[in-house]
Parts: sequence; C-alpha cells; structure tokens
Amino acid sequence: VDLHVPLEGPGDPDTRVARIYQALRQAVVDGRLTAGDRVPATRDLARQLEVARGTVTTAYDRLTAEGFLEARPGSGTYVADVSLSGVTPARQARRGAVRPLPLWDPVPVPITPRDRRLHDLSIGLPDPDLFPLEVWRRLVSAQLRRSRLEEATYGGRGSFRLQREVARFLGLSRSVVCAPEDVVVTAGAQQAIDLVCRVLVAPRAAVAMEDPGYFAVRRLFETHRATLCGVPVDDEGLVVDALPPDAQVVYVTPSHQFPTGVQLSMRRRVALLRWAREHDAVIVEDDYDSEYRYARQPVEPLQSLDRDGRVIYVGTFSKSLLPALRAGFLVPPRSLLPALREAKQVTSWEGDLTTQGALAEFLAEGHHAAHVRRATRVYRARRDLVLDGLTGLGDVLRVVPSVAGLHVAARFVDEDVDDRAVVRRAAQRGVRVEALSDHHRNQPARPGLAIGFAGIEADTVPDAMSRLRTAVTDSLA
Ligand SMILES: Cc1ncc(COP(=O)(O)O)c(C=O)c1O
Repeated sequence: VDLHVPLEGPGDPDTRVARIYQALRQAVVDGRLTAGDRVPATRDLARQLEVARGTVTTAYDRLTAEGFLEARPGSGTYVADVSLSGVTPARQARRGAVRPLPLWDPVPVPITPRDRRLHDLSIGLPDPDLFPLEVWRRLVSAQLRRSRLEEATYGGRGSFRLQREVARFLGLSRSVVCAPEDVVVTAGAQQAIDLVCRVLVAPRAAVAMEDPGYFAVRRLFETHRATLCGVPVDDEGLVVDALPPDAQVVYVTPSHQFPTGVQLSMRRRVALLRWAREHDAVIVEDDYDSEYRYARQPVEPLQSLDRDGRVIYVGTFSKSLLPALRAGFLVPPRSLLPALREAKQVTSWEGDLTTQGALAEFLAEGHHAAHVRRATRVYRARRDLVLDGLTGLGDVLRVVPSVAGLHVAARFVDEDVDDRAVVRRAAQRGVRVEALSDHHRNQPARPGLAIGFAGIEADTVPDAMSRLRTAVTDSLA
C-alpha cells in the first residue's frame, strides 16, 4: 500500500507518532484501507518516511491496541475488520443506517436545465438575459452597508419596506386591495403555500387542486399529508361542479392555469367563491405569472371579487425577475394573518433581508414596472411567433386561449394522440416542449403540448416551430 503520511514541518518524535497513527487510522475509517489489507512493515515505512523504526512501531502498537490493525506473527501487520471492533468505515457510515419517513422517498423533480443546444421551449422560466443586472447589483450593494446591519437581526422590521412596495404594486397593477400590514413576504410562492399548509392543512385534510396542475405545489401538499383530490380543467378553467364536497382548501391558478394556460371564466369565479362560502373552504389563488398580459382587458384576481374573506392571494417575483431570488408574498384574509406570520417566523424568521431590501428599492424606483413593460414587449413578440407557428397545425392542435404568462398550450383534437411520443420526436428534431399528460395525476389526460416562449430569441422561433410542426406531422402520420 502506498500510504500518504504528511510528516512535513518540524516535529518531535511524539508528533511523528501521532501523524503516522492519524494517517493510518483515517485511511481505515474512510475505507481507503479495508480489512485484510497488509500495511507496510515497520522497517519499510520508517525508511520511506525517514524516521526511526521505533516511531512507526509505537504508532502501530497503538493502532493494534485500538483494534484497527492486527499483527499476524510471521506474516506481517494487517488492517483488522473494524466493523467487529464497533468502528464503521466512513464510506459505510456515509451510506447511513437511518431512513426518512416513507413520505420523503424522493420524487423526481421534472425540471431539466435549459439546454442551449436545443430550441428550448420548456415552460416556467423567464429569460435571464432580460434581467436588469446592473440595477440589481447596485441595489444589492447599497443594502450591504454597515449602517443597515442594525436591522439584520431576528424579529426585525426589515421586511416592512417590501411589504409597503408590494401593497402599492398590487393595488396599482392587480387591483388587489391590501395595506402593507396585510402582506407577508416569503421565499417565493412555494414558501407562501407551505405556510398556508402549516396553518390550515391538518393531516388527511382534503385539498383540491387543478388536474393537470402544478407539480411542485402538489408535492408540497403531499408532504403535509393532505388528502389530495385532482379536479378537472376545461375551457373555462377549474370545473367547480367537480370539487369534492369535503375540500377545505382549493388551490387554483385562475389568471393563467398551470399548465393549460386557460383563464378561469367570470362565471366560474363567481361559482368558486360561492362554493367556498357554502363549504366553508379557503381558496389559495396562485397568481404566478400574470404580470405579463397580452389582452386589452386586465386580468383581475379572484381576491378582488372576494366579499367573504376566503381567498389567500399568492404572488412571486420568480417570473417577473428570477426564480433564484426566492422572493414572493401572500395576502391572506386578516383572520389568518397572525398565524401565517408566526408560521413564517418559526420556519425562517424574516428571510433574506438583503434581497428583500434591494427588491423594495427596485419597486420603489420604478424598475420593476419598467422591466415588466419591456419584457412584456419582448415576450409578446416571441409569443405571437409561436402562435403563428401553430396555425399550420390548426386541424390537429387547438390552441388553448390564454391572456397572460410565459407559455401557451395546445390540445390535440384527437384525444388518443400520445403527446409524450410527440415530445420525444420533437426532441430528436432539436426542439424541447412539454407534454400536457406529464402534468396530469388522476384525471384522464387530455393530450397536448405546453410551449414556453420566454427563453427563445424571436429570430429563432420560426425555425423551432417549423421543426415542431414536422415532429407533430411525422408522429401523427
Ligand atoms: C403554478 C406556479 N406557481 C408558482 C410558481 C413559482 O414558484 P416560486 O415563487 O416558488 O418560484 C411556478 C413556477 O413555475 C408555477 O408554475
């Protein structure tokens, strides 16, 4: 065995013994030396390390006494079976002897990093190239002043500036009625909904959500041990009549349903609010990407129709800025506010105050509004080109009408089409899109494609769409 024993630097004989002892012991514990390996003879190691033989012998004696080595007279010194001595080699220990609850058996996250070699039309990501990096850098750096460290403490009011700016932004651009005190700043929509679960969802409580729906929130509800019920989605959005009567929480994406893109019709909004009142349920409205609007009339949130105090409005900066900022918020009815605030404190205190401070200034100085305006222009152009590209497939794929967001969806007229096979074929042609069936859980899948337009340059959209058309026609041939 070629042993690495770091003996550099000054050292008396005791230090040398200790180093030899450590090096060998660590090698055994790490599993680099395993039971039955022969270690160098004391004479050889002493020569190699240029130390007295007695130094090596002392180290070996100690290792033998502790059960790491065993001397076999006439044969040499070997690594002992340390598992018998109660010491487990680290490699085995790293594997671990303990297991999480079955609930936490990993579920693969269906997100693949953007692939720049393909025309990547996967959904859910804004274009990072549009992010106003210079402004952001300046604002973050302004947060990192010594004087601000006063606020960098537990239970500070550091989030308040952002609450004020979010309330102003919501009032102006979403007609969500709220005061700064009504806003709870979170690490994205995901944490917002996690807090809602903590406060409202008891184990086995019935939770209803759209099916097809948003996988990350579905998984979140599962980990809170909710009894999930998928509710179908049609051309008017969530089918309110199909809600299970015992649902205590209904999670919806009314402005731009994930993943079909359909907007919840006014009739259904009224029906959903009435249903919630009659069943004493709470509605979680996830308004994740409706800052990008393509229709003349505004996309009004459910929250602003709620006369009963049952809607929790959830928003995020993941689409208008970047998912990695982990910045979002919720606006609950006041009856839930103290519990939600405490749930947030218990799990993450104030969150990241540097990002929150920078974001507050970003909103206050008007950069957010300007960025959304500019990005909407860019995305609208890309979206129009994607929709143009789909017109050639009008007899096989029906575009789902939508008015907001960063993706569109289209359903196959023939409900027997294998949309996953189409997606595979598209990938062979260099285009990545998503199959609607992949977002279904229980409801029978209505096949279709979800097509993100945020991450692709306008001038490459026509080529991408022409390849996609070929893939679709070939698959259906
Ligand atoms: C339906 C839906 N809600 C919320 C989000 C954003 O979540 P977060 O704010 O946690 O990044 C996404 C992102 O893909 C989404 O699709």
